[in-house]
Amino acid sequence: MVYKFGLIGHPIEHSLSPWIHSEFLKLAGLDGEYILYEGNQQVLPSVIKQLKEQAIDGFNVTVPYKQVIVDYLDELDPDAEILGAVNTVVNQNGKWKGYSTDGEGYVRSIVDRYPALLNRETSVLLLGAGGAARGIYRALGQQQVKRIDIANRSKEKAEDLLPLRFGNVQTSVLSYPEAELKLAEYDLVVQTTSVGMKPNVDKQIISLTNLRTQTVVSDIVYQPIMTKLLADASKCGASIHHGHAMLLYQGQLAFEKWTGKNLDVTHLVDKLENKLRGV
Ligand code: ATR
Repeated sequence: MVYKFGLIGHPIEHSLSPWIHSEFLKLAGLDGEYILYEGNQQVLPSVIKQLKEQAIDGFNVTVPYKQVIVDYLDELDPDAEILGAVNTVVNQNGKWKGYSTDGEGYVRSIVDRYPALLNRETSVLLLGAGGAARGIYRALGQQQVKRIDIANRSKEKAEDLLPLRFGNVQTSVLSYPEAELKLAEYDLVVQTTSVGMKPNVDKQIISLTNLRTQTVVSDIVYQPIMTKLLADASKCGASIHHGHAMLLYQGQLAFEKWTGKNLDVTHLVDKLENKLRGV
């Protein structure tokens, strides 16, 4: 069979997903294609019609359609329902089911790189409270870590994440200055805002003065690969985790849902980094 996958969103012309999924198809020994369906709000219904007609096997959904896509689905995974967002749709015998793979993709990426990091003693600091933070907050909670504090510019927006709390995880909502003071308490710091992204590469969301060398600092921004925050963390002697790994593992999880193949993609982290660096 020849698999048909794709991505809907706007703008998506620079998406790395076609490259990622062609690597996965090669690795799995499967035939298939991954097409970009670029379109603004007006064309969404006709794009959806096209995907239905060609019986697409699965597709990814990105900005600005992660919420509105729900109207076109037959079924919603419970986590996607709680998060109120879908980034992966699976065609199950003609019925479309929506999932959110952002958070689990992030968790897979960090567990692959730091297998002993997440456990019942782990304290996490989440920086930011947007769409990406929501998925990561939920998925880290599902790993049964001890604490996930959320720091955000607007504390009200951070409080919106509290209903996503999983199990017994403890959470305090902090301002950035409060988080900077408590920095030595965390095993993992996850930066989820767009601060530091190209072209604003000289921006850094918090100061790392109080960082311990044992802490892992993770940034979901992957352009540039070495954000100012990560460079600073590295200078402090801490371990770092780059953003492109999340992208790869989100894709791995989507590919698994579409094909049933659970691929070992560890070696592709560096290959994707080289691609992003233009090597
Ligand atoms: P995404 O879906 O990519 O996570 P989003 O939902 O727009 O994007 O969320 C953006 C996040 O980045 C929010 O946490 C936002 O902080 P506020 O809720 O206080 O607005 C944060 N953010 C964006 N630009 C920022 C900036 N210049 N300084 C601090 N935080 C910023």
